[in-house]
Amino acid sequence: MEGPRWRRAKGIRQGAVDKATDGQRDARNLENDMTATKVFLDEKDMPRQWYNLAADLPNPPLPPLGPDGNPVSPDMLAPVFPMNLIEQEVSTERWIDIPEGILDILSLWRPSPLYRARRLEQALGTPAKIYYKNEGVSPPGSHKPNTAVAQAWYNKQFGIERLTTETGAGQWGSALAFACSLIGLECKVFMVRISFDQKPFRKLMMSTWGANCVASPSDETQAGRDILAKMPDTPGSLGIAISEAIEAAVTDPTGKTRYSLGSVLNHVLLHQTIIGLEAKKQLAKAGEKKVDIVIGCAGGGSNFAGLSFPFIADKIAGADITVVPVEPTSCPTMTRAPFAYDHGDTACMTPLLPMHSLGHAFVPPPIHAGGLRYHGMAPMVSQAIVEGLMEPRAFHQLKCYEAAVVWARTEGFISAPETSHAIAAVIDEAVKAKEEGKEKVILFNWSGHGLMDLTGYDAYFQGKLVDYALPDEDLAAGLEVLKDLPKPEVRKSGKW
Ligand SMILES: Cc1ncc(COP(=O)(O)O)c(C=O)c1O
Repeated sequence: MEGPRWRRAKGIRQGAVDKATDGQRDARNLENDMTATKVFLDEKDMPRQWYNLAADLPNPPLPPLGPDGNPVSPDMLAPVFPMNLIEQEVSTERWIDIPEGILDILSLWRPSPLYRARRLEQALGTPAKIYYKNEGVSPPGSHKPNTAVAQAWYNKQFGIERLTTETGAGQWGSALAFACSLIGLECKVFMVRISFDQKPFRKLMMSTWGANCVASPSDETQAGRDILAKMPDTPGSLGIAISEAIEAAVTDPTGKTRYSLGSVLNHVLLHQTIIGLEAKKQLAKAGEKKVDIVIGCAGGGSNFAGLSFPFIADKIAGADITVVPVEPTSCPTMTRAPFAYDHGDTACMTPLLPMHSLGHAFVPPPIHAGGLRYHGMAPMVSQAIVEGLMEPRAFHQLKCYEAAVVWARTEGFISAPETSHAIAAVIDEAVKAKEEGKEKVILFNWSGHGLMDLTGYDAYFQGKLVDYALPDEDLAAGLEVLKDLPKPEVRKSGKW
């Protein structure tokens, strides 16, 4: 079940945890941050600005293209997003101020603690030091509210009354529901059918925060009805749910509805950089001068970017840091899909984005990490991959559940299935550090808890989950839709 074979292969010592922890108690009494389990920041030390990687990438991402193949102008995006967020989307300013109204709500759980995963380190017998940002402490339980609060706030400022969105695993939908309830906006969520069925409690969280959540595809939109007519039993996909949510926003005759996206776009990644900026301050407090490896799971790229972009800035400036985004083998966007221009949604309502894409019609198999089942990858992350600044990896789901169980039995917290992909990479790196005898500093984003995702753990314990790699023919079939679309120029400085 929890993979004794894998545990042996990784050299994980059972029972090592208690002993080592006892031995540390005296050191902990020294009140020295270097031996603490958690490193806190005062609320007053919360970052006051977000970091924009577009200012530092040697080649910033190419512009999104409209139906005529020309770059879209900010005005063309105005029916979908409020202008204040569009300005952030296209900004190349390095630092963007975080308004006080947003900081005030973020202070409910931010700064989030930086943890040292000592118990996992001891169980692995690794000389590596493993640190993680615990983003599961937010009210909905993940990193998603960092941008949900910001987006709801900017929409409210712009006079918008209602937001629509999609959600995969339900983390993003519940984050936006939470943000809208605190800021005073209506919220409508189209939830991917497979997750809607598997995760009733996420839906109830959204209802508790006053949002209206329906399964996607639904019969409430033309996009949903068209797909249901062709594929009545479809498990749904993020691409389909995005089409529905955009349609619901732009067809509102009052003009007071906008759409909100939980990942992928530049402004979403920007809002998440508060994670990496806090981590830098906390690592300094813990006495760390250098990070060797930064890891995050990546669905659309937002939690990974939020943690890693401030460190990518250091890498661009010459620091030697390995930056690893992790995806599932069932939806291998970064590791097997081309860098292409593609739509962000299935019904082709969004502009063409320059990104790694499996094709906008791709419906990933229903593995439990619902939040990693997106056909594309954030343009900013994609461009950084093209530059060679990142080393993407793909893992099978059984390896990830095994890692999540090792984590739960050492560090205690139960991880979201998405987060478990990052943990699997962390364990690999920590074991490698042991083999090399190097005291590396590993930092990763614990993007959310899995307390609403226990059906996935149940299926794992019952042996019902299997590994799945996307067959070559399915990959090729998905890419068909890209054939007639414009091709992005591959711009690479050759430095990495
Ligand atoms: C806990 C958690 N981690 C990671 C992700 C992946 O999204 P992103 O790549 O935008 O961080 C999700 C998406 O729903 C999530 O819920």
